[in-house]
Amino acid sequence: MDAHEKGFFTEENSVEVVTGRNKNAKDQRLKQIMGVVTRKLHEAVKEIEPNQDEWMQAILFLTRTGQMCNEWRQEFILLSDVLGVSMLVDAINNRKPSGASESTVLGPFHVEGAPELAMGANICLDAKGEDMVIGGRILDTAGQPIGDAVIDVWQANDEGFYDVQQQGIQPDFNLRGVFRTGADGRYWFRAVKPKYYPIPDDGPVGKLLGALGRHPYRPAHLHYIIKALGFETLTTHIFDPDDPYIQSDAVFGVKESLLAQFQHVEDPVLASELGFSGKFWQIEHDFVLARPEE
Ligand code: BEZ
Ligand code: FE
Repeated sequence: MDAHEKGFFTEENSVEVVTGRNKNAKDQRLKQIMGVVTRKLHEAVKEIEPNQDEWMQAILFLTRTGQMCNEWRQEFILLSDVLGVSMLVDAINNRKPSGASESTVLGPFHVEGAPELAMGANICLDAKGEDMVIGGRILDTAGQPIGDAVIDVWQANDEGFYDVQQQGIQPDFNLRGVFRTGADGRYWFRAVKPKYYPIPDDGPVGKLLGALGRHPYRPAHLHYIIKALGFETLTTHIFDPDDPYIQSDAVFGVKESLLAQFQHVEDPVLASELGFSGKFWQIEHDFVLARPEE
């Protein structure tokens, strides 16, 4: 018997006994991670002092969370989202130089293979909602335009649903599109004003939010993935600052720099140039990409 296999488990030495057993781990990073997780978990259990029934409730909650996962639904990521862990991992992995646009969560509703559209196209395919035009530039941190940047955008409709949540009701690829900038770095497209919506809340994570007195809503936003050769890919959103949930996003994705200005415009000439019939919303928002070495 090796020294690290000796020692009986007690309440006091629980961490040392368990982590000591990992002495011969092949992967040092895994050993480090499991050491920290064991230490923090034992610390939590010692502070909480759960009774057997509470411990079983925790086990059954995690079991139900796993059982809810399938090809379309990732309840563990949702759990990570509502606990702020997804945003923490995002923050740690996306420390940007000053001036670069900030990132936020990807979310579960991105779809690969959205159509590449001509600049200015309308991504709203069912003519439902309040018209909106969005434009801006893709820049580097020195303020120079980035040509050939690819902007993948997706958003919920005016009722707070993504196309993939309403198959057969919304057209496929409704409110999604891919745009490519020219040498001036400028992008623009037409869409409709998005609405706040609940994260999927019919599973154990939704129940947990309810039990904690929390709502499941995300404030209205547009999602972006912006890629350009020689730059770090940016996964981000822009948010409506006047949304009722802007201060209480269920997944903590809002950052001050991601608040866009939604202007309500009454300009019949511009409206008709844009193919709109009345008042419309206008957003002008630049994105700044960082180089890996910055
Ligand atoms: C979203 O914005 O699409 C989203 C993000 C996290 C959880 C659920 C939805
Ligand atoms: Fe979203």
